[in-house]
Amino acid sequence: MPELKNDRLLKALARQPVDMTPVWIMRQAGRYLPEYRATRERAGSFMKLCKTPELACEVTLQPIERFPLDAAIIFSDILTIPDAMGLGLNFIESKGPVFARPLQREAQIKGLEVPDPARLQYVYEAISLVKHELADRVPLIGFCGSPWTLAAYMIEGESSPGFPRIMQMMQENPALLHNLLDILAKSVTAHLEAQIQAGADVMMLFDTWGGLLDNEKYREFSLNYAHQIIARLRHNHYNKRKPPFILFTKGGSRFIDEMVESGCDALGLDWEISLAEARHRARSKVALQGNMHPACLLESPEVIRQEVAKVLASFGQGEGHVFNLGHGITPDVPPEHVAVLVEAVHELSQPYHQKG
Ligand code: CP3
Repeated sequence: MPELKNDRLLKALARQPVDMTPVWIMRQAGRYLPEYRATRERAGSFMKLCKTPELACEVTLQPIERFPLDAAIIFSDILTIPDAMGLGLNFIESKGPVFARPLQREAQIKGLEVPDPARLQYVYEAISLVKHELADRVPLIGFCGSPWTLAAYMIEGESSPGFPRIMQMMQENPALLHNLLDILAKSVTAHLEAQIQAGADVMMLFDTWGGLLDNEKYREFSLNYAHQIIARLRHNHYNKRKPPFILFTKGGSRFIDEMVESGCDALGLDWEISLAEARHRARSKVALQGNMHPACLLESPEVIRQEVAKVLASFGQGEGHVFNLGHGITPDVPPEHVAVLVEAVHELSQPYHQKG
């Protein structure tokens, strides 16, 4: 594999020395960028944008061309897997994702299969195009949703506070839910594996709704499957590259001890816990990614620099930190503020990496 010109992210994930803390931003290709809005307009819809490799490649590269970020993340969505399983995904402007055929009957769940890779070929083609265009400037992150989070959307049919339908199924028919989670874990493994084959350098699993669970249920219904996915990727003899794996659980600061045991290389953290405390609890077994509050990017450049300084100080001296927000960037952020953030991370982090 050719060497990356900027391998700070890979080094930080391996907890090896870097000259400055690497930074990338969840949803860095998104609506806060006017060039993203223009490409999305040209595509006609969010799904068309996802499913047209040339356009997905274009928007993946937009933030990389604008800011000195240390990683690209492939433009796609976690809900492409349920779409490929036949649920029919659409994004409605004021509502977000909506499935035409949500899982409402037992027979539907029992009839699900791991999707034919041809149905997600557009993701792999977009990855190949991005890798070619990046020419090894920075690593490319591939990703999936966790089985629990995918199941939450598939059963509910759309975003809904608290996702009551999956919570009800968990109480009333846990065996059926495990059936669904098992097929999703196999689908996620295959999708990540194919993203690696296409050229992705890092894997990230988004468990956006893991925080709905208590510790015991989190282990049983979410972590258990993340663990299986990581173990299968690691043991796959066809895949020699074994890219590092980041596990992000929104609202997951209660589960740090559990997440560390999943076999992941790094934990993605939201802002509910300080990096200092998370680092202590993770006992330097994994790297940490995060965790500035996305609303800080709406403040003045001076305040953004102060907030960056606080996050860096909280992690402190030494290796194993990837700077990011605690959740996705919001559409109302002025793009210049992202430039301020990236520059501040690179500049202010250098003293934390000096030897001696
Ligand atoms: O980070 C990136 O730049 C890569 C692209 C990416 C998108 N979605 C593009 C997107 C990634 C990594 C995701 C992950 C994703 N998708 C998650 C997990 C991360 C998280 O935010 O918790 C979830 C839960 C989804 C499902 C999803 N997609 C929702 C609920 C929505 C609507 C809410 C919203 O933010 O608008 C989306 C839409 C979506 N996915 C957009 C983007 C850029 C905005 C849609 C648009 O352009 O109209």
